[in-house]
Amino acid sequence: MKLKHLYIHTFGCQMNHYDSGQMARLLYPMNYVLTDKIGEADLIILNTCSIRKKAEQKAFSFLGRLSGLKKQKPDLIIAVGGCVAQQEGKRFLERVHSLDLVFGTDAVVRLPQLIKRVARGERPIVDVDTNTGDIDELPVTCSIPLSTRATAFVTIMKGCNNHCTYCVVPYVRGSEVSRHHQSIIKEVRSLVDEGVREVTLLGQNVNSYGVKKGGGCDFPELLRRVNDIEGLMRIRFTTSHPRDVSEGLIRSFGTLKKLVPHVHLPIQSGSNRVLKRMNRGYTREFYLEKVERLREIRPDIAITSDIIVGFPGEKDVDFMETLDLIRTVGFDGLFIFKYSDRRLAPASKFPDKVSEEVKQERLSELLELQSSITLEKNRALVGTVQPVLVEGPSKRSEMEWTGRTPCNRVVNFTAPTDVTVGQLVLVEIERAFSHSLKGRVGKNNSVWRHAREGVSYVV
Ligand code: 5AD
Ligand code: SF4
Repeated sequence: MKLKHLYIHTFGCQMNHYDSGQMARLLYPMNYVLTDKIGEADLIILNTCSIRKKAEQKAFSFLGRLSGLKKQKPDLIIAVGGCVAQQEGKRFLERVHSLDLVFGTDAVVRLPQLIKRVARGERPIVDVDTNTGDIDELPVTCSIPLSTRATAFVTIMKGCNNHCTYCVVPYVRGSEVSRHHQSIIKEVRSLVDEGVREVTLLGQNVNSYGVKKGGGCDFPELLRRVNDIEGLMRIRFTTSHPRDVSEGLIRSFGTLKKLVPHVHLPIQSGSNRVLKRMNRGYTREFYLEKVERLREIRPDIAITSDIIVGFPGEKDVDFMETLDLIRTVGFDGLFIFKYSDRRLAPASKFPDKVSEEVKQERLSELLELQSSITLEKNRALVGTVQPVLVEGPSKRSEMEWTGRTPCNRVVNFTAPTDVTVGQLVLVEIERAFSHSLKGRVGKNNSVWRHAREGVSYVV
């Protein structure tokens, strides 16, 4: 059968990137191979994100640009998946006439059948049924090497049972379902066989893994099982809900060798009044206690977070509390977002909307504060030696490699001899910037021996 080209454009979070990988795997047996040239594609899939308005707008403008391609190539199939597809369903077809298929987040497993139906001339098709597919049905083995890589994402659960008032996720990704731990372990093992050395376990709220539907064990137990996989060097996970950070999870940072000293713990606001209106289920005092406890167990732990500025009703005093919390914690990194209304989320109906101008001012102030904190933290690393997992050649310079420290800082570095993707190397940090570090591999790179033995090494 003739080879066909598949182009996937992914917006949004790591979970969407993971889903795109699964789509490629599912379509491979139908002779679809990935291409990065949109012009040669026979099938274009847009994997959309609805978490913030900007991501949604980008999806529509991307699709708008595709109608020209469809005129030149009438057999071209254009499909749209992800959260906006789930949310908009049929409405999508009214807005974008060139679409052949709209498929929701639970329809990924049915993609091969859907594409076959479109190819037979049944178009357009909309499949946004939820909770129909079994999360464990996704192909777990990587029959196609999507790339030579040292790191990979693995989804361990989908959906979310929390109802933060700004968030659309529970409405587009459904309620929480955990993948069975055996299916996760099988996937991680096969990734390690392919050469992957670091996995990031993904979920909207990984701390509640196994608590509701599916899973078969809790999150600390899952971490222990993944930690036992031979050949794997590092384990990361994201995202955690502060309310659900258990003592068991905190202790894992002290006991599991492969678990890196980094946790992403979104706080969203430093004001108790705003946290309450966001329905986050914790206070700033509770959050600070968790931070303290994590640092007690693992003093070198890096803590990063998400903040929303301009949530409806956020006053200057609330914002001051956020500034104060950021200074108190001293985050290693922050993702800062301007609040935007999401149609399905309750806060879109809240009064006292904050003006765009004020949101922008608050965003700029936080960005400035955080970049000085990050720079200071990065500067403190100059002169230290960090174990870095080599991810590939640096994009900026042919002479350099790139990788990450255990606490997730990007390091660009030179090496006297050849290094390969997936190796753990010791890098002497020479310079610090606000988003990355620069260094070099010394002559006595003793960590290579440890790396070959599959042992994560933390200085
Ligand atoms: N407006 C702005 N930011 C949002 N986020 C989620 N929903 C919204 C919204 N409606 C942010 C939160 C979350 C991150 C992934 O996106 O900070 O943690
Ligand atoms: Fe959204 Fe809150 Fe669930 Fe995170 S925990 S996905 S912010 S509802």
